[in-house]
Amino acid sequence: MAVKTLILAAGQGTRMRSALPKVLHKIANRSLLEHVYDTSTQIENNEITVIYGHGGELVKNSLSELNINWVQQKEQLGTGHAVQQAESIINDKDTVLILYGDVPLLEVVTIEGLLRKVDEENMALLTVQLDDPTGYGRIIRNENNDVLKIIEQKDANEAEKSITEVNTGILAAKGGNLKKWLAQLDNSNAQQEFYLTDIIEMAVKSGINVNAHNPKSSDEVLGVNNRKQLSYLERVYQEKQADKLMEAGVTLSDPARVDCRGVFKSLGQDISVDINVIFEGTNQIGNNVIIGANTTISNSIIADNVQILANSIIDNATVGEGSRVGPFARLRPQAELAENVHIGNFVEVKKSTIAKGSKVNHLSYIGDATIGSGVNIGAGTITCNYDGVNKFRTVIEDNVFIGSDTQLIAPVTVGKNTTIGAGSTITKDTPEGGLTLSRAKQISLKNWQKPVKNK
Ligand code: UD1
Ligand code: CA
Repeated sequence: MAVKTLILAAGQGTRMRSALPKVLHKIANRSLLEHVYDTSTQIENNEITVIYGHGGELVKNSLSELNINWVQQKEQLGTGHAVQQAESIINDKDTVLILYGDVPLLEVVTIEGLLRKVDEENMALLTVQLDDPTGYGRIIRNENNDVLKIIEQKDANEAEKSITEVNTGILAAKGGNLKKWLAQLDNSNAQQEFYLTDIIEMAVKSGINVNAHNPKSSDEVLGVNNRKQLSYLERVYQEKQADKLMEAGVTLSDPARVDCRGVFKSLGQDISVDINVIFEGTNQIGNNVIIGANTTISNSIIADNVQILANSIIDNATVGEGSRVGPFARLRPQAELAENVHIGNFVEVKKSTIAKGSKVNHLSYIGDATIGSGVNIGAGTITCNYDGVNKFRTVIEDNVFIGSDTQLIAPVTVGKNTTIGAGSTITKDTPEGGLTLSRAKQISLKNWQKPVKNK
C-alpha cells in the first residue's frame, strides 16, 4: 500500500505573536514540523508532502535536507483548499493521510490504526472526546452511531455545540475517492473557506463508510496555536522522555526536572540523574554514571562509572571510564578524557586529550593540548594557545607535575617526569625529568616604609 502523507502547514499562526512561522516553533529543540515529519517517516512505503504558505521559504529552508515534496498554497483559503493544491501528485490507488504541521505529538501506532481502517469502501477519521470541545469541528452521528458529517464550531447550532466528540483534522482516504470529493468542495459557510471536513458528508452520501478512530490520549492530537499550548506540549513530551529513561533503568531525582532534547545512542544501567539536567543532541552514557544537578550534556560520550558533579557543561566531549568531572567544569568540543581523569572546579578543557589518571583539579584552562598519563596540573595553570592570530599546541608528557599558576606558551613541550615550579612562564621545551622554573628572585626590603594616607 503506497501512502501519500500531506502535512498541512500553511497557516500563519497569528496567536503565536511571532515573526517565525508557527510550525518552526520548537518542542525539545526540534520544530513542530520536524516532529510530524519524523513520525511520518516511520510509516512504511510513504511519501511525504508538506503544504506550505506563510513564511514559506523559511519553512522550506529549515528542512531542506529532508526528503520532502514541497507544495505551495499561495492563499490560505481553508484546509480543503490546502489539500486541493496537492491533487496532481495523488494517484487513485494511493492511501492519502492528512496530518497537521502544528500537531506534533501524534504517535505512529495511532496513524497505523487509522490507516488499517481505509480501503476503497472505507475512509478513516481520527476523533477524540474533549471535556471542552470549543473551537473544534463536531462529529455528527446518526441513531446507529454512524458518522454522518462534521459541523464546524462557527456553523454549529446550540445542540451541535454540545457534542463533545470532535474532529482532530487527521484523516485518511483512498486517492481516487478523495479527488472526487475535493472537486465538489465549496466555500458556502460561515468562514467562506473550503473545508476539508465537508468530504465526510460526501463520503457517506456516496456509500463510503467513515470509520472513526481514537488516539490513546487526547494530548496526542492537541495542536499548537499559542505559546501556552506550546509549553504544555513541551511538558507532555518531556514527561514521556522521563518515563522512557526510568523504564530503561535510570534513577531521576525528579522526573519533572530533567529535559531530553535529543536521543540516546546508548544508555547504561543504574545511571542516576539529579535535578535540572539537560540532555541535548545524541548522547551515549555507560553504566553506574552519576550526573549532578544543573548539568548540561550535549553530543557526548560518557563511559562507565563516571561522576559528573553539579553545574557542569559537557559539550561534544568524551569522558573515559571512572573519570570525575566538576563541580563547575566545562568540557568543550573535542575534550577527550581517558580513564580515571579528574577535572575539577572552574576548569575549562577544549580540543585536548588527557591520558589515564591525570588530574586538573582547580581553575585551569587546557586548550589545544596533549596531556600524557599520570600528570598533575596545579591550580591556575593556563595553556596560552592563542597569539591573537593562530592557535598552537601544548604537549605535556607522562608523569609531569606542573606547579600552580603556570603559563605554558604554546607551541611548547614539557618532557616526561618534569616538575615545573609554581608561578613559571614556560616558553621553551623542557628536558625530561628534573625541575624547570622561571621565576624572579625573591627579595625583602627591611627599611620599607608603608605609604601614609594623603591629607
Ligand atoms: C480544523 C478543522 C476542525 C478541527 C480542527 C482541529 C476544518 C475546516 N476544520 O479547524 O474540524 O476540529 O482543525 O484542530 O478543517 N491550513 C492550511 N491552509 C489553510 C488553512 C489551514 O495549511 O488554508 C493548516 C493550518 O496550518 C493547520 C491546519 O491546516 O495546520 C488546521 O488549520 P486551522 O485553521 O487551525 O483549522 P481549524 O479552523 O482549527
Ligand atoms: Ca487549529
